Amino acid sequence: MAKTRSLHVCSNCGYQSPRWLGRCPDCGEWNTLVEEVVSREVGGRRPAPAAAPVRLQEVVAGQGERIPTGVGEFDRVLGGGLVRGSVVLLGGEPGIGKSSLLLQAMLQLDRSQVPVLLVSGEESPEQVRMRADRISPGPTSMRLITETEAGAVIACLQEHLPQVCVVDSVQMLWSAELSSAPGSVSQIREVTGQLVRTAKTEGIALVLVGHVTKSGDLAGPRVLEHLVDSVLAFEGERGQDYRILRAVKNRFGSTNEVGVFQMTDRGLEGVEDPSELFLESAQALPGASVVAALEGSRCLLAEVQALVVPTGFPSPRHVTRGVDRNRLAMLVAVLSRRAGLALGDCDVFLNVAGGLTLDDPAADLPVALSLASAWRDRPLQSGAAALGEVSLTGEVRHVNRAERRVAELARRGYTRVAVAKRTAAELERSGAALPRELELVPVTSVREAVEELID
Ligand SMILES: Nc1ncnc2c1ncn2[C@@H]1O[C@H](COP(=O)(O)OP(=O)(O)OP(=O)(O)O)[C@@H](O)[C@H]1O
Ligand SMILES: [Mg+2]
Repeated sequence: MAKTRSLHVCSNCGYQSPRWLGRCPDCGEWNTLVEEVVSREVGGRRPAPAAAPVRLQEVVAGQGERIPTGVGEFDRVLGGGLVRGSVVLLGGEPGIGKSSLLLQAMLQLDRSQVPVLLVSGEESPEQVRMRADRISPGPTSMRLITETEAGAVIACLQEHLPQVCVVDSVQMLWSAELSSAPGSVSQIREVTGQLVRTAKTEGIALVLVGHVTKSGDLAGPRVLEHLVDSVLAFEGERGQDYRILRAVKNRFGSTNEVGVFQMTDRGLEGVEDPSELFLESAQALPGASVVAALEGSRCLLAEVQALVVPTGFPSPRHVTRGVDRNRLAMLVAVLSRRAGLALGDCDVFLNVAGGLTLDDPAADLPVALSLASAWRDRPLQSGAAALGEVSLTGEVRHVNRAERRVAELARRGYTRVAVAKRTAAELERSGAALPRELELVPVTSVREAVEELID
């Protein structure tokens, strides 16, 4: 039996101690000692096998064979499916739907005769069965274990050799080689390291579920992100049923793809046309305007709504959901100063329908128009939309991928789109195939956009 020894190592200066200490005696930092396995060999010294370099020319590529999961939006983000021998980390807040998404993928894989294994450290087999019956009823040959000791999990993987293995969650696993508690940084790092090695040597596509801390980091100070091949983030708003899956890191594909899902009682349904989900009404109402926002390489339309009322307080309130507070304050200031709208004494409420968060600069002009429309209590002209960044001087600036955005607006029936002069010129020059009924309105300033689109 191999003997294991662990040491506590300071993550700041590298000081080593056999015991855990609150403060490093060497550098004086607090809470920096992390337990690490130092040797697995009897007698301590590792035999050093001579590593033989391989010729790149002789390496057979194409072994990174893809396994499509059959969940379209998941495959899109992965870059076509799971890669054999690769490790994916799926992070997300509690209850967002990580287990549901992966169970759906595993049931699909199982139906296409791909051997799958679920390591469920959080849910009992009965719970998993209940969820499986809810999201995809029918016979299945999928296997699961509820083991949480990493050595035992690895032994099971080596015996059953699934093509795809899901570990839910990595924070629940622990290694008998370390004395620290499951979920601690040293445990997570050690367990992940062992699993990654197993996945690579056995050619298993491994998906690890990771919980996200309040600050949005994967628990354990991002140690996992370096160990794995891809990191996916599953996001959504509380109380809203849409979910967005993003690739934060991807060694086997682009990080520019997003998957959009809707949570239903039958699990997560892929949303092919996300604009459908976020565009509330096509009716022109005071305070409403549409934003063509980019999510990865996809463009989706969302409705912004503003309400502007004279304040009853000594200092006016700005209440916003879906747009950054500071951005809103800046747009209010620009409208007051550069477009002659006296918003200074008004309470401003702003909302993005569907709970979407906009951090795209192209949302500036539509948000400004929505504020102007609310202030004047007049709707935007029917079929009118806008895109552009607004500068502190009140100018409208060019935004990237304008062609994609204008095309999406046209597809949804918008006919008059205010854009920066440069955007209009570039669209003309590129000979973009825009619909004939679409009229581009080149504007230089917010004031001009307001005059053009609000009667
Ligand atoms: N019967 C149901 N009908 C509709 N939606 C349901 C039903 N049961 C669960 N859900 C949805 O599934 C979500 C839980 O999903 P899931 O357990 O996959 O999340 P998770 O990210 O794995 O959470 P955790 O971090 O707790 O493991 C719930 O928040 C709820 O929205
Ligand atoms: Mg779960």
